Amino acid sequence: MLKNLKLGIKLNLLLLSVFLVVVLISGFALSKILDQYAQQVVEDRALLLIETMSSVREYTFKEVGPELAPRLETEDQFLPETVPAYSARSVFDYLRERDHGNYENFFYKEATLNPTNKRDKADKFEQQIVEQFRKQKNLTEQTGFRSFPGGKLFYVARPLVVNNSSCLKCHGIPEDAPKSQILTYGDQDGFGWKLNEIIGAKVLSVPASTVFNEAQRLRFVVIGILGGFFLLAIVLINLFLNFSVIKHLRRMAKLSTQVSTGDMEVEFKHDANDEIGVLATSLNRMKVSLQMAMEMLDPDSKL
Ligand code: HEC
Repeated sequence: MLKNLKLGIKLNLLLLSVFLVVVLISGFALSKILDQYAQQVVEDRALLLIETMSSVREYTFKEVGPELAPRLETEDQFLPETVPAYSARSVFDYLRERDHGNYENFFYKEATLNPTNKRDKADKFEQQIVEQFRKQKNLTEQTGFRSFPGGKLFYVARPLVVNNSSCLKCHGIPEDAPKSQILTYGDQDGFGWKLNEIIGAKVLSVPASTVFNEAQRLRFVVIGILGGFFLLAIVLINLFLNFSVIKHLRRMAKLSTQVSTGDMEVEFKHDANDEIGVLATSLNRMKVSLQMAMEMLDPDSKL
């Protein structure tokens, strides 16, 4: 079937097949690379933020806590600013309000099974994360995706461990806790924790959908540009083929037909010294040979 097609159509079919293969392969490779890149971007963001929150916790534990500790015993109102969990969450809340709500889909939670502040109660999903940390003591981090109404979130979770006996003053038995803490939070929640027990998980989530959508958009842009260049190449190749080859071949074919019907005045001419030029010279030589052969057959006839 291919044999019956014109040169131009054959060439265009070949170019289109190459184009399709290139678009398919590069589209596939691009989506792999861009997905990996997007995953890396969200992971890096989440890790940087969770490390920042851990630093805020450490600062509060080492520097703010000791400064305010004496006031906890004397004042009626508990000072939550002494609590690392409180300062980390507050810093994060301020972050979420910044930049016209650009960070409102970022979340940080000290998800705890038995929390002092009910706000920190682990939901079903977070409970599973905590249980996993409790089962596998050497597990230091869990990551993954979680869907929420605004899209997909990427989360990083790290275990919350009662790593210091000083924690038990406020989280051991209510009798040991500062009076102001009991007055503010009651004597039911956030107690009974044990040293080295995993009581919850710090869970930091960053929006993933936007990054993945951006990667998707980038893929279409790149394929679009690639397609544009291919189209331009196809048009240029077609123009070149028409002007440099097909047009001249048609002319040669027409002249050959004229010669075959006895018109020996025609001249096969081609300006360039390319293959068509060689063809023109050969055809001219053939025409002269033909003319001589005819004269030999019939010397009287003047073709
Ligand atoms: C001075 C008392 C006090 C000490 C000491 C203390 N905490 Fe707390 N902790 C609290 C209070 C009060 C809250 C609730 C703060 C709030 O409103 O968010 C809290 C909250 C938390 C939370 C968030 C979950 C929850 O219970 O609401 C974690 C996790 C936590 N503490 C862990 C620790 C660890 C680990 C230590 C030891 C390094 C420690 N705490 C030391 C009083 C204390």
